[in-house]
Amino acid sequence: MTTAYAPGKVILCGEHAVVYGRPAIAVPVTEVQARATVEPARDAWGVVLDAPDLNRRLAVREAGDGDPLARIVRLALQAIGVQGEPDLTITVTSTVPIARGMGSGAAVSTAIVRALADHYGRWFSSRDISDLVYQTELIYHGTPSGIDNTVVAFEKPVYFIKDVSCEIFWVGRPFLLAIADTGIESPTREAVGDLRRRCRTDPDRYEPLFDRAGEIAAEARAAIERGEAEALGPLLDQNHTLLQAMGVSCPELDRLVVAAREGGALGAKLSGAGRGGNMIALVTDETRSRVDLALRLAGAVRVILTEVR
Ligand code: MEV
Repeated sequence: MTTAYAPGKVILCGEHAVVYGRPAIAVPVTEVQARATVEPARDAWGVVLDAPDLNRRLAVREAGDGDPLARIVRLALQAIGVQGEPDLTITVTSTVPIARGMGSGAAVSTAIVRALADHYGRWFSSRDISDLVYQTELIYHGTPSGIDNTVVAFEKPVYFIKDVSCEIFWVGRPFLLAIADTGIESPTREAVGDLRRRCRTDPDRYEPLFDRAGEIAAEARAAIERGEAEALGPLLDQNHTLLQAMGVSCPELDRLVVAAREGGALGAKLSGAGRGGNMIALVTDETRSRVDLALRLAGAVRVILTEVR
């Protein structure tokens, strides 16, 4: 039996703009994880995937290629070079909240690829895994930038420019993020598709917003590398204003962002596709409890604290 894990993630800054070629930063969140276990099976049912947290149990041979779980199993077996269909049971569990912008789909796919590779004694680079997982992101998200699969596979903070570069960069001094969940599903596919339609009809309005979001990502990277997390706070605030102007925030996210700032956060913004899902707040050891309480009082259904390092 082989077992492998993959973390969740949050976007620190630059979401949506990253789909239009601007840089963005994403960081892994190891406090939540997907886990995949591969065992040989005695029944001749081919690969059976059991994912109780996702309410799924499927025989891969019966699932179409539009099913992301079946797709990643087929892609991984092909990449490993397995001939014919093996009889295996893959069990997947996950604590990564689903549809909250925390990379749940990418985490599950990454854990499956790693567990299958281990089972067959094969090694894949993070880049190889990320490329395979991207194929399932296409099913989940329609036109993904590729940032989610990249940060989850590399498990490091990444400075990402779609189709251009993905740089793992130095965190000069670790810093703390509180991640608060609105409890509302964040429909990545719809949020991205809707913004794309609006941007097509009115590029002069949206392109400057994307430009500024890209500049913020570059400034944020420089601040993080210098170990000046405090400088990050106003950048997160500015990025949230841009995301509001892009039309991807919602009252529940705005309420949490205001509550975090009033609770003492250095900066706060929505994170991911928006219209629900999670927001992030930059906190310190001194402010983390106050911000946590402020977020819960403002309606957060879950608050996760993570250290970025
Ligand atoms: C989703 O985590 C981030 C978005 O920028 C979409 C993408 O990059 O594919 C909203």
